[in-house]
Amino acid sequence: MDRKNSLAVIDFGGQYAHLIATKFRNNGYHAEIRNPEDPIELFAEYGGVVISGSPNLSAFGEESGSLSMVLDLPIPALGFCYGHQEIAKHYGGEVIRGKQEFGPATLQIVSESPIFHGIPLKSTVFMSHGDTVCKVGEGFREIGVSFSEGSEPHTFAAIADDTRKRYGFQYHPEVDDSEYGEAMLLNFASHICGLTPDWNVTSSLTERMESIRRQVGDRTVFLLVSGGVDSTVLGELLIRALSAEKVHLLHVDTGFMREGESHAVSEIFRRQCQDHYHVVDASALFIEALQGVSAPEEKRNIIGEAFVTVCEEEMAKLDLSKALLAQGTIYPDTVESGGEKRSKVIKTHHNRVRLMEEMIQRGQVIEPLADLYKKEVRDLGAALGIPRELLDRHPFPGPGLAVRLLASRGETPSFYDPEIARHAVPYLPEGVSATILPIPSVGVKADLRSYELPLMLHGKPLSEITDQFQTTIFSMVPSLVNKVEGINRVLVSLTGSLPRVSPRQVYMDRHRIDLLRRADHMVNTILGEMGLMKAVWQFPVVLVPLNIGEQGREMIVLRPVSTVRAMTCTVPLLPLAFYERCVEALLTLPDVGAVALDVTTKPPGTIEWE
Ligand code: XMP
Repeated sequence: MDRKNSLAVIDFGGQYAHLIATKFRNNGYHAEIRNPEDPIELFAEYGGVVISGSPNLSAFGEESGSLSMVLDLPIPALGFCYGHQEIAKHYGGEVIRGKQEFGPATLQIVSESPIFHGIPLKSTVFMSHGDTVCKVGEGFREIGVSFSEGSEPHTFAAIADDTRKRYGFQYHPEVDDSEYGEAMLLNFASHICGLTPDWNVTSSLTERMESIRRQVGDRTVFLLVSGGVDSTVLGELLIRALSAEKVHLLHVDTGFMREGESHAVSEIFRRQCQDHYHVVDASALFIEALQGVSAPEEKRNIIGEAFVTVCEEEMAKLDLSKALLAQGTIYPDTVESGGEKRSKVIKTHHNRVRLMEEMIQRGQVIEPLADLYKKEVRDLGAALGIPRELLDRHPFPGPGLAVRLLASRGETPSFYDPEIARHAVPYLPEGVSATILPIPSVGVKADLRSYELPLMLHGKPLSEITDQFQTTIFSMVPSLVNKVEGINRVLVSLTGSLPRVSPRQVYMDRHRIDLLRRADHMVNTILGEMGLMKAVWQFPVVLVPLNIGEQGREMIVLRPVSTVRAMTCTVPLLPLAFYERCVEALLTLPDVGAVALDVTTKPPGTIEWE
């Protein structure tokens, strides 16, 4: 491999560092992830460097010594967020605290540069930052500013020194929601670094199979299959690379599967693998272990460890204790679980808990898809000849409905302050009220985990909600999440005014799991009947433990999302007739007293609530 024709992406732990390399590779430009500690001589061999964002390195601290040396190399450099601020500072600029921005903003190009070749003067970019560049040094100029609805422009959103070939963007061009972000990356690779695009997916498939054969040697492989896209693709890849003889598959029914899911999974794999396909009903173990638990990370850890316990028991029973365990872990599982050197835990994915990490350390686990995102997994599946209808199913998380079934001790969180809602008033359309709900959920802000409260907008009955109203609400979300401190989600009531609400003391019992399973099934059936499956990437249905009004019923939240790689998301505009059918069906369920639509982008929300 010719490093002169490649890019080095320096990973400072930002949530999207890996995505930068993926975007280049998907377009034929070879790019590799590097640590800041790698030798400076190595960086000197590349055709250019890209500096990622970072969760804990603010540009206020000391400049990283290695970064300073990299910037002194005579190769082109491009930085995002933290990387952008470091470039500004290195050449005499200044960074200030505050002026945060999360989610979409409009980028306005204010000066021409080859990095903006072919890009319209105004476009949407995605932001996730707390600090801001306020001055640049000699040789640099401002080439873009950013603003969101109703706010003052943020200066220095993009800076350039075309002579030194140094560029910085405050936004994240690497995320799919930055409209022309990919084009900007490609401008860097081609116009600034002068690289040639000569990398492709087929060569990566051959390399991947060879690497599996090398890792496995003459051992047997035991694969956990949830029935989702990742494990389906990995199953096929392992069988191709190693032959069916050497692969055993295990499906664990956790009790948190969707209606009919375990049965459907078994249909697919039993046909393909016959007596090498095993199923275990472990629902009693999982549900018992979650009794009385409500904290999201505690739930996730219990679920992950229960997977390991069940898996070890089954391997022992089948006399396969010496086999290697294969997991369909993909890149977001690792990065959001804080698994990369500097990234922070947003949520611990089921395949990244302590017991599993210990097995990985002992060399007992292989994860051949760990550097890929869902989109790349689907592309790989297509290259392996897996039918499109299997690849295009909505992703379903390993912990299943458990992360959509919130539990509560029935206490109001210590950080609950109903007065926060008043800060939302200036941004609200007529006839709409805002209430802070006393139930926190997980989100991601500036590469860090947030655990904050949702802001609920209510007052309009569904019959008065129009497409125009939906669009207005969507466009208000950035202002609300940027201006109202202490919230990480915005919800819109689909059942009119919200009566008095209080936290409801409930846990993960079979009755509530069944209620959520039925609600999830109803929404998905309506989605399918109205031909809308492809209009959303994923559609979590969440059961929220609130006493709604006097009858003390719970709330269902609908969370449709659009995304490509799940590291960011927006909310698709769906027909109102769809929501009308959902609300009508959901209110027939006992214990459901309200239905709301989650309209939060990621960041600052995450796709799942826990
Ligand atoms: P978040 O909620 O972090 O989710 O925005 C991003 C994507 O990851 C899925 N997800 C998981 N998948 N094990 C998985 O296999 C997990 O523990 C897990 N947690 C979240 C989520 O459904 C979404 O597609």
